[in-house]
Amino acid sequence: MTQTAIDNLAHEDRIFEPPADLAAHANVKADEYERAAADRLGFWAEKAQLLTWETPFTEVLDWSDPPFAKWFVGGRLNVAYNCVDRHVENGLGDKVAFHFVGEPGDTRDLTYAQLKDEVSKAANALTELGVRAGDRVAIYLPMIPEAVIAMLACARLGAPHTVVFGGFSSDALASRVEDCSAKVVITADGGYRRGAPSALKPAVDAALEKLGDASPVEHVVVVRRTGQDTAIVEGRDRWWDDVVDTASPEHTPEAFDSEHPLYVMYTSGTTGKPKGILHTTGGYLTQCAYTFQAVFDHKRDTDVYWCTADIGWVTGHSYIVYGPTAMAATQVLYEGTPDTPHKGRWWEIIADKGVTLFYTAPTAIRTFMKWGREIPAKYDLSSLRILGSVGEPINPEAYVWYRTHIGGDRTPVVDTWWQTETGAHMMSPLPGVTAAKPGSAMAALPGIAVDVVDDTGKSVANGEGGYLVITEPWPSMLRTIWGDDERYKDTYWARFPGVYFAGDGAKRDEDGAIWILGRVDDVMNVSGHRLSTSEIESALVSHPAVAEAAVVGATDETTGQAVVAFVILRESAGEGGDDLVAELRSHVAKEIGPIAKPRQIMVVPDLPKTRSGKIMRRLLRDVAENREVGDATTLADSSVMDLITAGLRKPSSGE
Ligand code: WT7
Repeated sequence: MTQTAIDNLAHEDRIFEPPADLAAHANVKADEYERAAADRLGFWAEKAQLLTWETPFTEVLDWSDPPFAKWFVGGRLNVAYNCVDRHVENGLGDKVAFHFVGEPGDTRDLTYAQLKDEVSKAANALTELGVRAGDRVAIYLPMIPEAVIAMLACARLGAPHTVVFGGFSSDALASRVEDCSAKVVITADGGYRRGAPSALKPAVDAALEKLGDASPVEHVVVVRRTGQDTAIVEGRDRWWDDVVDTASPEHTPEAFDSEHPLYVMYTSGTTGKPKGILHTTGGYLTQCAYTFQAVFDHKRDTDVYWCTADIGWVTGHSYIVYGPTAMAATQVLYEGTPDTPHKGRWWEIIADKGVTLFYTAPTAIRTFMKWGREIPAKYDLSSLRILGSVGEPINPEAYVWYRTHIGGDRTPVVDTWWQTETGAHMMSPLPGVTAAKPGSAMAALPGIAVDVVDDTGKSVANGEGGYLVITEPWPSMLRTIWGDDERYKDTYWARFPGVYFAGDGAKRDEDGAIWILGRVDDVMNVSGHRLSTSEIESALVSHPAVAEAAVVGATDETTGQAVVAFVILRESAGEGGDDLVAELRSHVAKEIGPIAKPRQIMVVPDLPKTRSGKIMRRLLRDVAENREVGDATTLADSSVMDLITAGLRKPSSGE
C-alpha cells in the first residue's frame, strides 16, 4: 500500500472520550495496562481465576518449544461446567442464558438451569452414539439454541467440534468432515432464511455421499426445525428428538487438561486448502471470558448482550458460546436476516429485549446506512450502552453513523481487532478507559503485545505504516493447524522470525494509535468473512469452460471488499456470454458457498504475469476498481494489460 493510501485511510482526528458514568463504574480501570505490562504472566494467572479449575495449574506458560505454546500447565477444568453448571450452583439457575428469536417470530427463553439440562442430555446422547473424549463432531446448524447446546455438549465430553457455517456448500462440508475425521454430524432439517424454510440436511447427505466409503461419519443427528420433508438413512441418521429429548439430564462433567483440544475452526488461507485452526481449553476460555467482561464492560445482573454473528464463525464461538456464557451473560440469539420481515427487525429486537451491549460487523452498519436512519429512529434504542464492531476495518463514516444513529451519540464504540487464529480480542479500546478515534482499533488490550514493523521486522515510528505482528504468546492463541504443524510454522511464524505475523497491514498514527489497513496477503474480506483468492480460483478452473482464473478483492461500498474474477476460457467454450458468466458464478456458489460468488466475472484473453509466472493481482485490482492501471513494467508480456482493458470495453465480457 502506498503512503498516500495509508494516509487517506487513517485521517480521522475526532476523539470520543469514555462517558464519565461508564468510566466511574467500569470493570477495568486505567492501571490495568501498566499492571499487565509489568507482569504479563502474573496478569494472565490472575485472569485465569475468572474460571473454576478442578485442578489448579502449576505453570502459567510453557514456551520452551516455540511456536507451540502450553498455557496454564497442569491445570484441569471442564468448559461446559464453567459456562453452565457453576452458574446454576451459584444460584443463577433462573437467569436467562438465551432469549432465542426465530425468524418466523417464534421465541424461546432458555435459563441457565434449562441450558444445563439440555447440554447434559445432548452429552448423554452423544455418548450413547459412541462419542468419546478426543473424537471429532461436525456441527452444521442454523442459528438455533441447539447449535449452542451441541457445542457445549461436545465441550463437556472433551470431543472437539468443528462448526461449519450453514451457508457453506456440501463440498465445503465434505472437505472439513474429511480433514478432521468427524465421527458424528449434527444438523437440522433446515432453518428459516428470508421468510422461507431453507433445507440443510440434503447438503449433509450429498457431502457424505461424496466421501463414500472413505466417510468417517457413523451417525448424523437431525434437529427438527422447519418440519420439512427429510430423507433419513436407516441406521446412520437419528432425530435429535429421539436421542436427545429422551436422554437423562444427569451428567457428570469430567475435567480435561488445560491443553485439551476444544475445537477446530476452518478458515481460508492463501492456498486452496482451508486451514483447521486448533483452539484448546484453559487459555482460550480465560481470554474469551476476560475480554468479554473488559471490552463490553459486562455487568452480570443488568446487561443484555447481543452478538449478531453466526455461530459458524469464530465470533459466534468466542462471543456467543464461550466468553459470554462463562461470565453468565443473558443474550439474544436471532435466527434470521436483518430485513425479514422488515428492515427494522434488529432494532425491534433491541427495543423488545432491552439489549444493552450490541456487537455487529461494519458491513451490516453500511447496509443500514443505505436503508436510512429513519428506520432505527422508529425504535427505542435507549437501553444500549456499548456498541462493538468486528470483522474488518470500520470506516470513520460508518463508525460515526453507528454511534450517532444507533448509540444516540452516547455509547462508546469498541472496534475489536482479532482473528480466527487469535481466538479472542487482541486490540480494542476499553470503553471506560480508552479514548477512541473512529476507524482505529487503538491499542493492544492489557496482557497483549503487538507491534507495527517494516519489511525487515523493525518497529516503525509514529506516523508510519507496516505489518501488524504479535510479539508475545497469548492465552487464546491457536496451537497449530489441525494435522499440519509445518504449515502452522510456515504460515504464521516464518515471515518475521520469533513473532506472529497476522497478515494485516497497519499504521501507527502520530499519537501512537494503531489503524488496521486490511490484509496484505491473498486473503479477501467480504462482509467480514474471510475468503481466499486461490480457493475461488481453483473453484473456477474446476469448471470445464475455464482454462485459467485470477481473483482479486476490489473495494466495495457495502461489503468492504467484493470478489472480482478474471477468467481465460478454453477454446471449446467459445467467446463466453452472459449465460456462461452466470453459470460460473453459480458454480463457485456450489463449490464453496453463496458468500464466495464473484460480484463480477470478466472474460479476458490473457492474465498479467511476472517472468516467474506469478499473477500480478495489483494490476487486476486496478482494473476491477476502475483505476488507471499502474506500473506494468515487470510483466513478462507488457501488452497484456492493454489487451485486457481493450477487451473489457466490449459489453459481453462483464455482467
Ligand atoms: C481478519 C480476520 C475476528 C473475527 C471475525 C473475522 C480482519 C477483523 C477487524 C477490525 C480491522 C479486522 C483482519 C483480520 N479484521 N476485525 N476490528 N479492524 N480488520 O475473523 O475471518 O479470522 O478474519 O479480519 O483483516 O486479519 P477472520
